[in-house]
This record gives sequence, structure tokens and C-alpha cells, in this order.
Amino acid sequence: MFQLSKLIKSLEDEFIKNDITESITLRRSSIPSFDLQIDNLVKFQKHKNIKAIVNSFSKLIENEPLIKNFEVAKNGFINIEINLENYVFEIENIMNALKKTKKSKKIILDYGGPNIGKPLHVGHLRSLNIGRSLYQINKLAGNNVLNDIHLGDWGMPVAQIICYMEINNIDIEKIEIHDLESIYPKASKQYLEDNIFNLQAQELNKKLNENQKDVIKKWQKLRSISVESIKETLRILNHSFDLWMGESDVNNLIPLMLDDLKKDKKISIDKGAYVSNFESDPKVLITKSDGSYLYLTTDLATVLNRKDKNKIDKTLYIVDKRQKLHFEQLFNSIQYFQFDNGEYTHVEFGTVNDSNGNPFRTRDGDSKKLNELFEDTLSKIKSINEKLDEETSKLLANTVLTFSDLITNRKTDYKFDLDKFTRISGKTGIYVQYAHVRAKKLIQNSNINIDKVDLATSEMDDTDITLLRAFLKFEYTFSQALKNNEPHHLADYLYELSSVFNSMYQNVNILENKNTKLKLNKLKITKHFVNYSKLLMQSLGIQPIEKM
Ligand code: ARG
Repeated sequence: MFQLSKLIKSLEDEFIKNDITESITLRRSSIPSFDLQIDNLVKFQKHKNIKAIVNSFSKLIENEPLIKNFEVAKNGFINIEINLENYVFEIENIMNALKKTKKSKKIILDYGGPNIGKPLHVGHLRSLNIGRSLYQINKLAGNNVLNDIHLGDWGMPVAQIICYMEINNIDIEKIEIHDLESIYPKASKQYLEDNIFNLQAQELNKKLNENQKDVIKKWQKLRSISVESIKETLRILNHSFDLWMGESDVNNLIPLMLDDLKKDKKISIDKGAYVSNFESDPKVLITKSDGSYLYLTTDLATVLNRKDKNKIDKTLYIVDKRQKLHFEQLFNSIQYFQFDNGEYTHVEFGTVNDSNGNPFRTRDGDSKKLNELFEDTLSKIKSINEKLDEETSKLLANTVLTFSDLITNRKTDYKFDLDKFTRISGKTGIYVQYAHVRAKKLIQNSNINIDKVDLATSEMDDTDITLLRAFLKFEYTFSQALKNNEPHHLADYLYELSSVFNSMYQNVNILENKNTKLKLNKLKITKHFVNYSKLLMQSLGIQPIEKM
């Protein structure tokens, strides 16, 4: 916590004097009468100087003006109550300080990852939501961030579509996105069931890899129809990408990459296929026996390409947890092949199921399309509140799709339950938007310039204090989300703040209150709430609404 950084430094220095190298962490306390806790002393209970250390710690804490009260428990836990009077609640100050604590990193976020020929569907929802939130969180933390949609736009699936169209005399110049969407499942089915088609598609894939002019022309058309439709859905869902790279962008880098790996004796031939010489079970396959490339081959080439073009410190892949083995193999290979020594992380997530817990499908058995999911959510919102204008309803639909997704720990699966997610009470996106709008309205209606108001802590009631103390948890919560790539900490916290704000709001009539000091305090605290809630929404990828 930046306002306590001097104290933290002195505590760490005290540790050093006793030959302990340890960074002090302030966590949020779960004890109601305390705000923060330090548990660094717990594991040093057997240290020969523990008594002296506890003493020096106590003195240092006692002399800290920001701390009102504290206790050191027997097992070494230190519980701290903050002096609200001396605390700076301005979120801009907190964010600025937060940015300065770490060196800015160049980070690439690989998420979305749709394959061309198929529409965006419910399987893409979490990658998009988590990806966008981590993008925002990292930006707010002062990092230099890029997001790349990493299209699946090359290889067998694409060859199957083109081959299918050739055989059935479908003129690619004339097709539209809905034709394409119906071709894809037919082509992949036939590829599995029909040997002749299978061979033809492989033949076409070869031509694609040889960059034959007529095939490339068809591929370009196919790609552009698909990308246009993907962009349209992303626009509705309020997503955007800095980079629109894909598997096709690195295909021509692969032969050279393989040559180098052969030269360096990092891969060898096994029954016609290339496998990595890295000891592992199963062995890591780099190419297939017919020489064709795998998902892994492309991801390895992408690593080289990004390193070359973007000079990256850290790469996050926001991809379904079912691809765990793939990313383990990728990261091991990056190390073993000495491609890069940057940080690579698989930010894995669970599945979105329907409200009964089954795979989320349409009546025809296809995965639910994201634009349809959006439409369903929008209609639901309109049916609940008919008076809302179109713009607000759309923002709320996106809020629901985002908030209900991010509030779940990303590693667990969840059921998509539209009734539950659109409720006005409970942990919903609607609830947090409602609290936010209510707070903004209160300030507007007061006609007071709140920026000029100072908090008078002597005039506060319990609900004011509870809300102020809830603000204290911001820094820790934000850094947890950042460190663990887990937006749910922030979603949970936004709900907590909103509900504490609602209690404060409902406690007394604020605008009509005769006690001016109390009223001004409440308005000032409300203003802080608006700022915290806005920043939390921003970090979740949610746009605050103006009216409701
Ligand atoms: N297109 C892939 C799929 O549908 C996801 C891509 C994820 N990103 C990556 N670099 N592998 O499974």
C-alpha cells in the first residue's frame, strides 16, 4: 500500500538487520475491527531474535500516523486499523502510485482466437471477457500492452472449406457469411467420413501451403468475409484488438525454423515425423509424418515472430483449460529450443454451460452464437425494464455478459442463467450499474461542488465508516487481480463496494439532511464511490451507464 510504503521499507530494513530477506505484504484483514494484516512474522516464530523483532516492529507501527490501532497476535499475525482521517482516498493518487511501484513491461495478450469460417460462439466468451479485463488491468498498472486475436486462418480446416466449395461448384465470390457458416460443419463432417474428399482436401492444403495463386485468392476471400463478420460481432460486444495476426502470418517462417532446429539437433525424425529431443512423456510432436504442420508448430513460429516484431517481456494466452497440455508443450519447447527467455503464461479458464449444466447449444446442436446470446440478453433486459432507451439496454446487456462471467473464478465452469444474471439484486452486473447510477444522480441532484469538500471524520455514522474502510481494500485487491491474472477479485470487490454504498445510501435521506456536515461527508464519500466503481468497471471492461 503506497501510503504505508515508508513503514513497509522500515519493517523490511528491520528484517535485514536480522538476516531476513523478505518483502512485507499488507493483505486485507478478515477481522471486522481491522483493515489490514501483515503475516510475514508468522513463519519466523522460532527465530532467535523474534522477541526483539516484534518489539521493533511494534515501535515502528506505533509511530505511523496512518495507523490508528494494531495488535500482534501470539502467532505473529499483525492486525492493523487504519486512521481514516489521514488516509488519501483519491483514486487517481492511488493509481499513480501503483504505476510507479513496478517497472513497465511489454505484454502481449493472445485471446479470442476464433477460426475463420465459423462464427464467434459461446466458447469464445470467456477468452474475450478475461482477455479484455486483463488488458485493461495491465494498462492501468502502467504496462505497455498489446492484444492479438490470433486467428485460426490456415491449414486443414481452411482447406476443407475451400475444397468443399470447389467440389460443389460454389462460387466463393458470391457467398456470404451465413453460407460459409453452413459449409464449415458439412466440410469437416465429410472430411472425417469420406476418404476421397479427405484426400482431395489434403491435396488442396498442400496447394495452400505452396501459396498457389488461385487457392490463395479463394483463401483471401474466405478470410475477409469471416473477419468482417467477426469484427461486427466484436463491435456489438465492445471488443477491439490492436493486432489481427493469425496462423497464416507465420506459415512461411516455419521451414526456416525447422531447419535451424535440425541444425541445432533439437529435433529428430521419428517414423517420418519430427519430434523434439526434449525428454518428455508423451514426446512432443513438431510436424506430422506427412510433413504437415501442427497447432504447436504454428504457435512456436508465432513466438519467434512476436519476439522479432514486438520485443515482448511477457505473453499471456487466455485459452480454455482443455488446452493445458498444448501450452505445457509450447512453453517447454520455447525453453528447450532457446527461443526466448521471457515470461509465458497460460491463463486457463473453465466452460460456460447452459442453465442445466449441459454444453451450451442451439436446437440444431451448434454452439450458441455470441450475437444470439447478446440478442437474448438484450430482449430479457428490455422485457424487465421497458422504459430503458436502446443505448442503455445494450450497455446493460454487455454488462450482464461480462460481469456474470468475470465474477466466477476463471478456473471453474459455470451455468449461464439469464434469469439469475439479470436480477436487480445479488451479485449481478445490473446491481453494480444501478448503484453506480444512483450515486451519480445523488451528486448531480445536490448541486454542490464536492471536489472542494473535505471529509470530517468526527461527523460520520457507521455506514460512512464501513464504506471508507471498504475503499482501503482497493490496492490489495487490484494487485491480486494483476498478479494472478484473476479479474474475479475485482468483480467481487465491485459488488462489495456497491452493496456497502447502498446501505449507506438507504440509511438516511442524504439531500434533505439538516446536518450539513453529515450531508457533505456523505456526498464526498459518494463521490469516492463513483470514482472507485468507475475504475473497477473499466478494469473489468464494463462501460458505466448514465441513467437507468
Ligand atoms: N484457434 C484456437 C482454437 O480454436 C485458439 C488459439 C489460441 N491461441 C494460441 N496462440 N494458440 O482452439
